[in-house]
Amino acid sequence: MPLSISRDDLIRTGNFIAGRWTEPTKETFGVRDPADGSLIAEVTDSDGGDAKAAVDAASAALPSWRAATARSRAQVLKRWHALILSNQEDLARLISREQGKPLAEARGEILYAAGYVEWFAEEATRTYGDVIPETVRGRKMLVVKEGVGVVAAITPWNFPAAMMARKLAPALAAGCTVVAKPAEDTPLTSLALAVLAEEAGVPPGVLNIVAASRSRAAEVVDVWLGDSRVRKITFTGSTPVGKHLARESASTLKRLSLELGGNAPFIVFDDADVDAAVDGLMAAKFRNGGQTCVSPNRVFAQREIHDEFVRKLGVRVGALKVGPATDESSQIGPMINRQAVRKITSHIQDAVAQGAKVIAGGVTEVDEESNYVAPTVLSGATSSMLLAAEETFGPVAAVFRFDTEAEVVRSANGTPYGLAAYFYSRDVSRIWRVANAIECGIVGVNEGLISSETAPFGGIKESGYGREGSRRGLDDYMDVKYVCQGGLS
Ligand code: SIN
Repeated sequence: MPLSISRDDLIRTGNFIAGRWTEPTKETFGVRDPADGSLIAEVTDSDGGDAKAAVDAASAALPSWRAATARSRAQVLKRWHALILSNQEDLARLISREQGKPLAEARGEILYAAGYVEWFAEEATRTYGDVIPETVRGRKMLVVKEGVGVVAAITPWNFPAAMMARKLAPALAAGCTVVAKPAEDTPLTSLALAVLAEEAGVPPGVLNIVAASRSRAAEVVDVWLGDSRVRKITFTGSTPVGKHLARESASTLKRLSLELGGNAPFIVFDDADVDAAVDGLMAAKFRNGGQTCVSPNRVFAQREIHDEFVRKLGVRVGALKVGPATDESSQIGPMINRQAVRKITSHIQDAVAQGAKVIAGGVTEVDEESNYVAPTVLSGATSSMLLAAEETFGPVAAVFRFDTEAEVVRSANGTPYGLAAYFYSRDVSRIWRVANAIECGIVGVNEGLISSETAPFGGIKESGYGREGSRRGLDDYMDVKYVCQGGLS
């Protein structure tokens, strides 16, 4: 099926460097529809030379962008925000085609992405410093904030618009210039966002996007890691890659924001509103087909409500409609690729082989041609199963039964990760006890949807460091400078 949207000029397949679009003349890689593997577009497969050209452009553009007033940067971001909203439908269709997210959710992702741009447009004008009370007469002591410089943004495929916006908007607001590499599966949405950024008046060189295939990605990123002009790397993706970036950026001591893997617990206590907990899990777990880093990976239900919870969950999950992302009625689209399907399938098969019971979905036959996975509920999950230790990243809810609060908090924290956690309870004392005891960066209490541009997003432990969004989000892109002026009378 050809890629058809109302504004053809949003479909770009070359790089955007120094305010110019290149033609995909040299090597290219195919962007494929995850539903059927059909080719959507051939995109430039960038090499180290392209990566360096992007840094050259970002460095050259830095002095004037940094010197621009915060208000003028904010105005550019506000225009970009308006353009993202007015092109919502086209952008959503691009996401659905290349990523497989159902259209209704893709439209929501565009609003979410636009929210970050608007938020940081507003925050740009509020990067206040400090005036330190005089400790010595005749001395003024001030603290000012400055953009860190050239930022390299490396984004994942699961939210191709929102993750790019969440990194670019604060960087641009802070006066940084950017080199960005979108995920190999989903470059088209990012390239379309760059078209709109250009239209909004982002000056040449301030934003540069280079696309690369899986096999070339390391070449591009290595150039950025080794270039001392790149002062910060912001990355959303897997923990092993995050660790690699941390190691390899040490020689130039870059700042890092790493939003990495998770293994979120979702706990339902006996005192919970079970229907609300089922609603919360449906929203948190089955959004984007479970391909979300804050998606619950282990569901814990306390003994007394366990059976009721599992039964109600099974009914809801069994009714989910699976189908092409571009079909308005689909609720679960295809998974991103075969590798993802194989991992999800292996987790279900391993759990069933170890005694888990299939309440909904399951693996009936493995179709090597299809990237669809039946939304699945398993009960009788145990800690020896693969899905207890690894992020499944798919539409599988595995329910563990537990008895006591102490036991479930221990299990919830018994992972190297600490991104998100959710729990349902109506006991106020328990709510604060558990919220304090859970080791993670984000806690949903009686709530399954926790993401918002107004709140800090990020993890602890091996889920990474740094926070995106919220009033803290700009600090990750700014250095603090202390200015001490003496000799004043
Ligand atoms: C992610 O999966 O990395 C982001 C999800 C979100 O922002 O809610």
